[in-house]
Amino acid sequence: MNDKQLVAEHAARLVDDGMVVGLGTGSTANYFIEAIAKRRVDEGLNVQVVASSVVSTIKAQQLGLPMLALEHIDHLDLYVDGADEVTTDLTLLKGRGADLVREKLLANASDKFLVLIDASKRVSRIGENFPIPIEVMPFAWQLVQRSITKLGGQANLRANASKDGLVVTSHGSLVLDVIFDGNLDHQSLNDRLNAIPGIVEHGIFYGLTSAVFCAEQGLVQEQWRS
Ligand code: A5P
Repeated sequence: MNDKQLVAEHAARLVDDGMVVGLGTGSTANYFIEAIAKRRVDEGLNVQVVASSVVSTIKAQQLGLPMLALEHIDHLDLYVDGADEVTTDLTLLKGRGADLVREKLLANASDKFLVLIDASKRVSRIGENFPIPIEVMPFAWQLVQRSITKLGGQANLRANASKDGLVVTSHGSLVLDVIFDGNLDHQSLNDRLNAIPGIVEHGIFYGLTSAVFCAEQGLVQEQWRS
């Protein structure tokens, strides 16, 4: 069993009967979806799920998990997802999969938000390994790009995989991938990005994480927000 699967199965043991659980997106989240589907079959676990993306919707449907639509819920008991970067204060960078609007909505709506990583995701500052993804209204991208330049960021529209067009998110936004010059810490960056008109959402998840579960060489370490 690899570290991603190990940490996903660890988290799946925290799901209780009757819970409404949010499903993240990515390879680690996929292992979690498989683990709760298995508990449903083996133990009769009574669970309802809400997906954060088209991909996790399809995965959950294929495994027969009872699903709720995002627009039909007003809160979640638990949301479990991966991340692209995690700092020591439990701030995350997310959105490489370009579904960060739903991901942040679910993280904010859940009583507990558990983040599953392996040690490769730990960073000393957000933006260390990846640009920060910022979803923008298509007609606003140049104005947002200008606001970001004023903050010391370099923003480029994300191209699709074959490089012959742009990435368009599941609800029609464009994505700017932004590299900042490092003058602003992630809390200030979060506050400033929240205040720019035309930004639908950005990939800094500040103050939302309840706990990070990190798997390394066959062991899982839990770090809970104090
Ligand atoms: C999805 O938009 C991302 O935030 C993922 O949660 C992130 O890329 C983690 O992916 P892996 O679990 O595949 O590493």
